[in-house]
Amino acid sequence: MKHIVLTGFMGVGKTTLGKQLSAYFNIPFYDIDDEIIKGERQSIQALIIDSESYFRALENAYICSAIESQKPSIIALGGGAYCQPITYKHIKKANVLTVYLSMSDSECTNRLDIIKSSRPLLNQMTGDQWKQQALDLYQKRRPLYERADMIIDIENLTLENFIQRIEECYGKIF
Ligand code: S3P
Repeated sequence: MKHIVLTGFMGVGKTTLGKQLSAYFNIPFYDIDDEIIKGERQSIQALIIDSESYFRALENAYICSAIESQKPSIIALGGGAYCQPITYKHIKKANVLTVYLSMSDSECTNRLDIIKSSRPLLNQMTGDQWKQQALDLYQKRRPLYERADMIIDIENLTLENFIQRIEECYGKIF
């Protein structure tokens, strides 16, 4: 049975929607950032500031271990993971359904305005610089996210609608 892997930019709601899917399907939920924090006993902030490439290697290792598990689960990736070539290759080979949660630029900056202080790729910027940084990064990543099996726009999305879309694509497998 497949895992459902949620990808998309920072702030799009991968964790929130992942928890809701997990409750609906009654299968475990793993947030890769949280797994790294627990496993390494360090914050994502500290890891990235120290060395982003080391963080990416850790992220890859935790994702591989999650997708190799035989027990189906919902897995929320960190926003950059699916864009790392090695990680993408591993996910592509695995028995998973990948779902890209998309949003418009304005939704992205509205959401990030509230949570940017906890995002190490944005919270080092002064003033409004984070906005351009976020939009540039999002634009660069969009085509990479779009390689996912499904694309779901989260704007005006109800939970019922979200679950229905996933079930339509996935079949009633659980
Ligand atoms: C990152 C997104 C973050 C976290 C790290 C790097 C990124 O996760 O993994 O700060 O490169 O976009 P969220 O997407 O959950 O914010």
